[in-house]
Amino acid sequence: EKGAYEFYMLKEIDEQPAVMRTLEQKYFDEAGNILIDQDLRDAINAADRLYIVAAGTSYHAGLVGKELFEKIAGVPTEVHVASEFAYNMPLLSAKPFFIFLTQSGETADSREVLVNVNKLGYPSLTITNVPNSTLSREASYTLLLHAGPEIAVASTKAYTGQIAVEAILAKAMGQDKDLEVAKNFDLTGELTKVANGMQALVDEKGQVEKLAADVLGTTRNAFYIGRGIDYDVALEAALKLKEVSYVQTEGFASGELKHGTIALIEKGTPVIAIITDPKTAAHTRSNVQEVVARGANVISIAAEGLATDKDQIVLPEVHPLLTPLVSVVSGQLLAYYTSKQRGYDVDKPRNLAKSVTVE
Ligand code: F6R
Repeated sequence: EKGAYEFYMLKEIDEQPAVMRTLEQKYFDEAGNILIDQDLRDAINAADRLYIVAAGTSYHAGLVGKELFEKIAGVPTEVHVASEFAYNMPLLSAKPFFIFLTQSGETADSREVLVNVNKLGYPSLTITNVPNSTLSREASYTLLLHAGPEIAVASTKAYTGQIAVEAILAKAMGQDKDLEVAKNFDLTGELTKVANGMQALVDEKGQVEKLAADVLGTTRNAFYIGRGIDYDVALEAALKLKEVSYVQTEGFASGELKHGTIALIEKGTPVIAIITDPKTAAHTRSNVQEVVARGANVISIAAEGLATDKDQIVLPEVHPLLTPLVSVVSGQLLAYYTSKQRGYDVDKPRNLAKSVTVE
């Protein structure tokens, strides 16, 4: 139930620290062993390449998943939009393994791919919030998000839940392969840090509410920029903003902006920069300078260790591969408040349905 909340979206944003804690409990025992069936671990580690297939926000969670599976489990990973993959399958590796990310477990575009994958006889895993959903029943294996029902059309806690489950699976795989990086990854400790960091961000939501009013109040368009994992989050934060507030928003790789899209920056154009990676922070900051010089109204969201006085949002420090779990919360809140301030029904954006069961 919504209780004191005006909209489910804010309730579900606020629930994310609890989702992280639930996942820690569901997927780790007291001794720190990962509770994922050995069958699944063996099947996925037998693959030479992972194919993540999903739509919308779940696709964006897949982009972060690629980082996790490649860096923690050492397995090459491709991420595909389901509606594209279904009718234009790329050349597959010799031993592919398919991962379907789907909150609802009912998305027709994703199911179409699974039907084909089953015909070809390849193994698959569905990561979903809904036990017994169609994609769960039809895949070889299922992992649950344990996020509780997600009612708002715009997905929030399912995205962070998906990333956390991908991280847990990646660690299990890497440990089974005896990879140092996986063995040394203190994921329970890191997820606790994430939960606390998320809590700090939602406790400070008044600050984001004000930024939304000041910077996004009346605009018709906006940009999110970032590099690497921050670019993945830029895509998701842009989708959140456009779907609930109808502000036309593009998520862009910061370095790519100058190759054309910067032509769209005018006086007052909002540009929201996500900066969590020390390797690229200076580059993204110089991209911010480029848009400021053209009149952009910038919000910068930076990890604590990289932050300056000029950053409007400072993100609590978490593991470098888990920064999307905190940076996205700021984007979710910006989207929520922009929609609410414009007087929209935040939970039911026009033209959208919670689960898309047509192709
Ligand atoms: C965006 C959103 C959609 C869904 C997409 C896939 O906020 O909710 O983009 O992520 O329709 O849905 P699932 O994950 O149920 O397959």
